[in-house]
Amino acid sequence: MDLLKEKRALIKKLEENFPKGFRVVVMPHFCVDNFVHCEQPFESFIKDVKNIVLQGGGNIPLKQNLHRGGKAANCASALASLGVYTYLIAKTNSLGYKLLEHFFGGKCVDLSHVSKDGELAFTTALELKGVNIMLSYPGSLSKFGPECISEKDEELIEEADVVCISDWGMNDKGTELAKHVFSIAKEGNALTFFDPGDPSPKKEKEQVEINRVKTILEEGLVDILSVNEDEIKRYGGVDFLRSVTRIDLHTEQYVKTYYKDKETEKIPTFNVEPIRLTGAGDAWNSGDILAELLHLPDAQRLMLANAVAAYYISHPAGAHASREKLAEFLQSATLRTGIL
Ligand SMILES: Nc1ncnc2c1ncn2[C@@H]1O[C@H](COP(=O)(O)OP(=O)(O)OP(=O)(O)O)[C@@H](O)[C@H]1O
Ligand SMILES: [Mg+2]
Repeated sequence: MDLLKEKRALIKKLEENFPKGFRVVVMPHFCVDNFVHCEQPFESFIKDVKNIVLQGGGNIPLKQNLHRGGKAANCASALASLGVYTYLIAKTNSLGYKLLEHFFGGKCVDLSHVSKDGELAFTTALELKGVNIMLSYPGSLSKFGPECISEKDEELIEEADVVCISDWGMNDKGTELAKHVFSIAKEGNALTFFDPGDPSPKKEKEQVEINRVKTILEEGLVDILSVNEDEIKRYGGVDFLRSVTRIDLHTEQYVKTYYKDKETEKIPTFNVEPIRLTGAGDAWNSGDILAELLHLPDAQRLMLANAVAAYYISHPAGAHASREKLAEFLQSATLRTGIL
């Protein structure tokens, strides 16, 4: 396959007028991330902490920044930047809601399906040299089940073009949520997109819960399953998964789609220097979803997803790409070589 020809065709599509009026629904994770820029090795940070303890408590002045976090909120941000009208279904508290309004100021994200009567999910990330330590409180996310979906949400899900659920692993009621929401989506015309994520947080329940997810897949409720290299094995392997859904596999080096009876070539990712990796998967999903809405051919779809992710992970301020910026990025971006 001539990948450069595909890249040129993709740039042309990005520069064309897009059809408007797509409606994408994403859920359920929104989190406030507090980045603490420690910028020192672990040992020296611990030494500072010990000295403070020895003097009976005190202050360590450190630069800190609040950011939008959570897979659904990140995906909404990336989709809206690309010009896709996105609805976020999530639960937080009134402070979280105010922050959401701030984070999404000026972007086409509808927050009217976010309820404010829950708990704020909050993560403090201690960014030390070479290692990050996350202190996470999942708030309402850990129990976001079908009872959190209102009648108004159900109507939205039924009328959407795409319904995306992420962060199943972190949500104790993730299996029930996926079954409920995807069943409603299937009553309408929505394409169902599932990024279950790392199953490790399920701990001793992991295998039982994965088996329940397999049943949901066997029922045909998931149109697209977005997984990385590790997840594709943990959720049952290529042979099983492709027999029940479409698999969109993404890795740092290459990406690939497996259909029941055919598969794409490995499409290489772009050469960039990542500044951050958190949120790469969410940006990738948004590119995949947009390309799906535009009915792009497989190679261009996968390339678009790679470009959205590469742009985000290498952007100095962590901005998501607009279509114009993405087309510019693609003009000069080079594909990774030596992976095939
Ligand atoms: N080092 C990198 N260079 C270029 N692109 C990258 C790199 N890392 C990630 N990407 C892009 O981001 C995509 C998603 O990354 P990855 O497969 O690691 O996601 P993930 O493991 O699901 O991560 P997440 O924790 O964000 O869900 C890749 O397929 C690729 O397009
Ligand atoms: Mg992921």
